[in-house]
Amino acid sequence: MPVSRFYIWHIEFIINHKFFMDLKNLNKLSLDGIKRICGNMLKRKIFGSNDLKPLMLCYYVNYDCNFSCQFCSRKEEVNSIKKVEQLSLKDSYRLLEMARKSIPAVYFTGGEPLLHPHIEAIVQKAKELKFNLIALNTNGSLLNRHWEILDGLDVLVVSLHSLNEKRIAKICGVNEISSSQIIKNIEDCAKLQKLKKFKMTINCVITPDNIPDVYEILDFCLKNNLKLSIVPEEGRGCMVNNELKDNPEYKKLIEHLIKIKKSKKGVIFNSTLYLEIIQDLSNPFSCIPSLLSCVAPDGQLYYPCPEISNKIATNILHYESYDLAAEAGKAKFNSLFGKFIGCAEANTFKAAHIEPLLLVENPLNYLG
Ligand SMILES: C[S@@+](CC[C@H](N)C(=O)[O-])C[C@H]1O[C@@H](n2cnc3c(N)ncnc32)[C@H](O)[C@@H]1O
Ligand code: SF4
Repeated sequence: MPVSRFYIWHIEFIINHKFFMDLKNLNKLSLDGIKRICGNMLKRKIFGSNDLKPLMLCYYVNYDCNFSCQFCSRKEEVNSIKKVEQLSLKDSYRLLEMARKSIPAVYFTGGEPLLHPHIEAIVQKAKELKFNLIALNTNGSLLNRHWEILDGLDVLVVSLHSLNEKRIAKICGVNEISSSQIIKNIEDCAKLQKLKKFKMTINCVITPDNIPDVYEILDFCLKNNLKLSIVPEEGRGCMVNNELKDNPEYKKLIEHLIKIKKSKKGVIFNSTLYLEIIQDLSNPFSCIPSLLSCVAPDGQLYYPCPEISNKIATNILHYESYDLAAEAGKAKFNSLFGKFIGCAEANTFKAAHIEPLLLVENPLNYLG
């Protein structure tokens, strides 16, 4: 099998989304992207290096939000009085242009990205720049006002933590009308996947209180031709919710998802390796977050990740290239804290960091 079709940042995208299997998309995989992926595998597998090059840009386009989720991982920034400035449209374009020269894929998030006044134009720009993969993560409440954004996306990720409108309202801090709108939007959007040529994934945060809801969401995904991605709830600073550790209902749920992953191809987005890891949350994971490069709404690059370097980032737009900005961010971090070699005993189980690392470390197992 040619390497270009084999080593992409997230093998699940290949298998589940058939993204690179689709010949019309093959020409989108740049040589630079292939080199970057293979380089990481060599560095990690052969030399055991922690200094890996990002495969995906995670661009927090804003920190505005119309929800106030109980567990929001960006609670401190979202709707904070001390607003983080957003880049102008022109600077957002420049950021994407710079990133594209180094990073093959882009993931738009926030805040709620659909509240950004120029989100369609930003996604369109990413399309023009031929990112290998363009994904956007939304709470789903505003999709009915943004159907056109689907034309620019390869993957739409919608958060959903329950199907019960009252419970959604409680979890997300919204009213029940918004809750039913989210479900309707998801159902309407799901029907457009084929026509608009994108794939849709539901992202469900597992908390000690919504475990039974996840089974219902799984059925909902099967019924509506959606993929399900799960992540255990984390507090600030990479702390997984302690109530999930040693919770028999949680373990039973993950076991069930592993079985479903084997028996019903394509519905569970997470890799089996990831699901096996999060089965036991008391076992710390060695996290190397550098495969995902996170950038704040004002263009600040978080090195090595937003959890660690919230305040010591480097603004990409102050540099001639993304790579130079990344080097400067690294040097700044190293001078303050010493060389970052990963979080050996991290209490974090973030799919966004763990999944690409699993791919780079265990490409063959990852496929299984
Ligand atoms: C910060 S949100 C931004 C995008 C959008 N507002 C949304 O909620 O989908 C990004 C993703 O992180 C998830 N998330 C939020 N808080 C989390 C937490 N404490 N632990 C794990 N995932 C979390 C959300 O469900 C969402 O899928
Ligand atoms: S919708 Fe997303 S950004 Fe908004 S509060 Fe919820 S998790 Fe946070």
